[in-house]
Amino acid sequence: MTSAAAHVGFPNDFVWGVATSAFQIEGASATDGKGPSIWDSFCAQPGTIVDGSNGSIACEHYQRWEADLDLIAGLGVNAYRFSVSWPRVRPGGSGAWNAKGLDFYDHLVDGLLARGLQPHLTLNHWDLPDELQARGGWADRDTVHRFVEYALGIEARLGSRLASLVTHNEPWVMAVLGHETGVFAPGIKCRKTAAQVSHHLLLSHGLAVQALRARGCKTPLGIVLNLAPVQPATASVADQARATLEDGRLLRWYMDPLFKGRYPQDVLDELGPYAPQVMHGDLQAIAQPLDFLGVNYYSRSVASADNSWKACNSGLPLTDMGWEIYPEGLTALLLRLQRDYPVPPMMITENGGAFPDVLQDGRVKDSARTDYLARHIEAVAEAMRQGVRMSGYMVWSLLDNFEWASGYEKRFGIVHVDYQTQVRTLKDSAQWYRDFLSRQGA
Ligand code: FCB
Repeated sequence: MTSAAAHVGFPNDFVWGVATSAFQIEGASATDGKGPSIWDSFCAQPGTIVDGSNGSIACEHYQRWEADLDLIAGLGVNAYRFSVSWPRVRPGGSGAWNAKGLDFYDHLVDGLLARGLQPHLTLNHWDLPDELQARGGWADRDTVHRFVEYALGIEARLGSRLASLVTHNEPWVMAVLGHETGVFAPGIKCRKTAAQVSHHLLLSHGLAVQALRARGCKTPLGIVLNLAPVQPATASVADQARATLEDGRLLRWYMDPLFKGRYPQDVLDELGPYAPQVMHGDLQAIAQPLDFLGVNYYSRSVASADNSWKACNSGLPLTDMGWEIYPEGLTALLLRLQRDYPVPPMMITENGGAFPDVLQDGRVKDSARTDYLARHIEAVAEAMRQGVRMSGYMVWSLLDNFEWASGYEKRFGIVHVDYQTQVRTLKDSAQWYRDFLSRQGA
């Protein structure tokens, strides 16, 4: 790569990785004692997933994990971010643990270490055990305590071998898309429930971190947020006010309690009767010191008071998801986070793009994805030059996989997956990433 990232001097211990999540790649949805998750049930409801698909086979990673780890090692990365499927290791969410499920992750972690790869584990990448949902799911305060047990159980088994442990992936998505708009599992459409869910997710994060530390856990602990700069569509007062509110809902609603011990007043005011029930001590529990903050970045967000703004009219190139390609937003976001909050070093835990890939003669010429990745890595480098403390960068995703409500129609992988044969093919972007990393000496 010719841009400045080539000579930013990423530190030698910079974490370079690829990321996946359990439900999106594992398949084996009822194998070896795995219980159903809310995503299994959601997919079974007609009309929820664009192509009517589900996660029962996905990338067959549960069977093919060893070859997949070889593939990861071959990229020259030093780290792999994956998630544990809670219903695979504790099928009902409480009660008995599933030895075979735990063994799977045990072998996976050992397999990573044997290949010189750091294991970065996420506890909750959305696939809550269905049985807990039947008892109220994240809207029920009891789930908070079940999550703490789950965190303690996984850490007891794997913690000493992990490079990092993340409690939740993108609480905003689980709360808002899962419980307010209902386009993701569990498909609930209730604003009050969504607000309560967001609070319980944050609380369970804080209590889990507290419990792990109290037990002497030395694994670096963090949380992953989906963040973006929110810009007003025009300079009008109304659009600016909306942008401030949306920034509150997306970013400050999570960053303020985590790092300042309070919810933002403007968002609380706007929620009014929908505000969550917060018990005495909750906010203190949420604001645990963290070892790192994971940031998932895909695009900027633009707010207009009348919702008239459309990405397709902005003139910026779009990914296959219809998301604007806006790497400068990543630099701005990282600068702002470090300016406004006492953040620990940050890691980009997801960044990447879906593009309409074509596999032809054994090759996928995805130059748009390569360009996307190169420009975003350069955006990270620029933030670092301006003083932001960053510890790593991970591409979303290793493999094409089950992209939630978009099913298998959107391909985010740097490795192509043929879903008929499960054959994996490195796309041009994967080869570029490998070459880029070898120049970094990763
Ligand atoms: C993020 C999710 C991840 C993937 C990407 C495209 O919101 O964390 O699982 O779906 O978006």
